[in-house]
Amino acid sequence: MDASGTAPATAPKTVFKQKVFSGVQPTGNLHLGNYLGAVTKFVDLQDRYDCIYCVVDLHAITVWQDPPELTRAIREVTAAFLAAGIDPKKHIVFNQSQVAEHAELAWVFNCVARLGWMNRMTQFKEKTGKDRENASLGLYAYPSLMAADILVYRATHVPVGEDQKQHVELARDIAQKFNNDFGPQIASHGFGDAFFPLPEPLIQGPATRVMSLRDGSKKMSKSDPSDQSRIALTDDADAIAMKIRRAKTDPDPLPHEEKGLETRPEADNLVGIYAALSGKTRADVLKEFGGAQFSVFKPALADLLVAKLSPITAEMRRLKDDVSYIDSVLADGSARAQVIAAETMKSVKDIVGFVRR
Ligand code: TRP
Repeated sequence: MDASGTAPATAPKTVFKQKVFSGVQPTGNLHLGNYLGAVTKFVDLQDRYDCIYCVVDLHAITVWQDPPELTRAIREVTAAFLAAGIDPKKHIVFNQSQVAEHAELAWVFNCVARLGWMNRMTQFKEKTGKDRENASLGLYAYPSLMAADILVYRATHVPVGEDQKQHVELARDIAQKFNNDFGPQIASHGFGDAFFPLPEPLIQGPATRVMSLRDGSKKMSKSDPSDQSRIALTDDADAIAMKIRRAKTDPDPLPHEEKGLETRPEADNLVGIYAALSGKTRADVLKEFGGAQFSVFKPALADLLVAKLSPITAEMRRLKDDVSYIDSVLADGSARAQVIAAETMKSVKDIVGFVRR
């Protein structure tokens, strides 16, 4: 460290190990949108990266959660991770509140992030609307906690939906400012020219943005009052078939080309779901079903959904009754996560200048 307070130009470039982190909020019932948009991506990444998958219960309580319902939802998300094929032994599956370092690092980040940055967060503005005075302070600080989730493991890749991209970019800004503000200390403690990596969002393709079955312009959502708007991961075969039969469509047959879906959001959504579940492109699906009426396409889609989802929903139902197993997975994952997180916090304390044991 020199008197000007800048990092010595000699600090070696820090090399970060590639690591994936992502989180899912335990609120409401998991549905097809969560499954295709997030969970299947998490499963696919397991072969290429060390992965940490977190049930973000601290984020959930930024808006009111009924406590018994929160407990149920934490276990349900965990069951979905496991049922979909995430390996909790090779990777880490845990719930956020069991690793106190998330909240601890978030406090440091609250002192790094600028109000101007937080005020640009579109999700906060959308969620609070006109009633901002009544929003929790936690909801405002939400993106700073999310940055801590990722960076307490010094993760480099973050699979998220398009709607979370801005939050991952904020995490990059926080990491960058921390690295700059504490450059000399980072170098003198032997961490090279950067302590935190700048995490990158891994954005899922648009094919897996699943929309409401009642309105093709709205995302499938756990907060939609209509149960008909979504396929829950706990729905049985009859419920799935019924919801697809009743899904909103238009009177025309399916087009032969993708272009023909552009002004038909409901048709586009159903074709997109079929494509995602079968691992095909929309164009391939239209090669097969172009010219077909919905009376033909909908039963085919319902059959595919039942075939693909029923093994997972069956396993979820089985796991749901095995609370002690789920809780043991979370306890084991939390203990392993905490070892990494505690190591990061120790270094952060040294870098910031705290006195520690
Ligand atoms: N905000 C994310 C969502 O609502 C959930 C989340 C919390 C998250 N912490 C994270 C996602 C860290 C990725 C990385 O979907």
